[in-house]
Amino acid sequence: MKQYRRMCAVMVGAGMLAAVLSGCGSNEGGGRQSVRIGHNQATDHPTNVALLEFEKYIESKLGDKYDVEIYPSELLGSQTDMVQLTQTGAVDFCVASNSILETFSENYTLFNLPYLFASAEAYHAAMDDTEVVDPIFESTKKAGFEAVTWIDAGTRNFYTVSVPIEAPEDLKGLKIRVQQSPTNVRMMDLLGGSATPMGFGDVYTALQSKVIDGAENNEMALTSNGHGDVCKYYSYDMHQMIPDILIGNCAFLEGLSDEEREIFEEGFALVNRVEREEWVNAVEAAKERAEHDQGVTFLYPDTKPFQETCQAMHSEMLGQYPDLKPIYDKILEYNSRYPAETEEEVVCMPSDDLPVSEGERALH
Ligand code: GCU
Repeated sequence: MKQYRRMCAVMVGAGMLAAVLSGCGSNEGGGRQSVRIGHNQATDHPTNVALLEFEKYIESKLGDKYDVEIYPSELLGSQTDMVQLTQTGAVDFCVASNSILETFSENYTLFNLPYLFASAEAYHAAMDDTEVVDPIFESTKKAGFEAVTWIDAGTRNFYTVSVPIEAPEDLKGLKIRVQQSPTNVRMMDLLGGSATPMGFGDVYTALQSKVIDGAENNEMALTSNGHGDVCKYYSYDMHQMIPDILIGNCAFLEGLSDEEREIFEEGFALVNRVEREEWVNAVEAAKERAEHDQGVTFLYPDTKPFQETCQAMHSEMLGQYPDLKPIYDKILEYNSRYPAETEEEVVCMPSDDLPVSEGERALH
């Protein structure tokens, strides 16, 4: 059933994409300019709820000029497709995982590091700090897009069809879907699983047909994407807090008058606020549903062995991108201010104490 729904979504998506692209640049709806926003989540997901609020807000202020259109559920293609469409201006905005953006600007590598943030509080405070995010958000302007706000996507954890993951050794020999980013492949290699990069929309079928043994994501993937129908073990190893990023086409943003830009900026802040408010309850509800309706068992392993196995990636990244060190250090300050509160959460080691990796050794 799920597969049929997915096939229909793909068919509708292909038609939708052709229709959207053929109307590219047009002023529709009685002279109003369409503002197209694509994302890959379902309509009940906090991201979609927040974007609908954005639509309402912009149209309440600038509705005579702009018609905001939201395209959920990969109707405009995978995240990589949507980022490319946003680069060219065929689409004005899209939501992309920070992981995907790493392949467009290496600066984004930083927020993909495993065990970068010590706690959710440290993560939120760092992402709210313009000194942390602006140099990264603005780094893709030459590529035709810029980030306008971040969106909470919780903590990523491993989940599998049938193998409970209690320690990194349990991942050995398992094919685990990861997002299409070098950092995620490296992380999986270190942890001993076999990294299988693929787009989000393909994961359900891959799990069901046993092409992969598991994946890693926040709790919403179990319910909103149905992965909990197939995967029965979800293990809180807490390996990453990877934000989603709302990106906008530069030509569109630069074409706004100062007053319009101010209203759009208020709209971007609204997206961030609403999504974060919705997120807390959505995750609670997802956990409840996964446990009771889908029969998923939640596990709470010791996170330390996972963290220690991945820790070399911090010094590797700093060796490769030394310009990111000041931002990394700012994040460590937030980690000290908002340390992990429970044993499940992790504390990030200062970079000076990190073991020197082979990659870094080669650079010196
Ligand atoms: C999360 C995230 C998405 C991302 C997905 C993935 O759902 O919010 O932006 O696409 O993970 O694993 O690909």
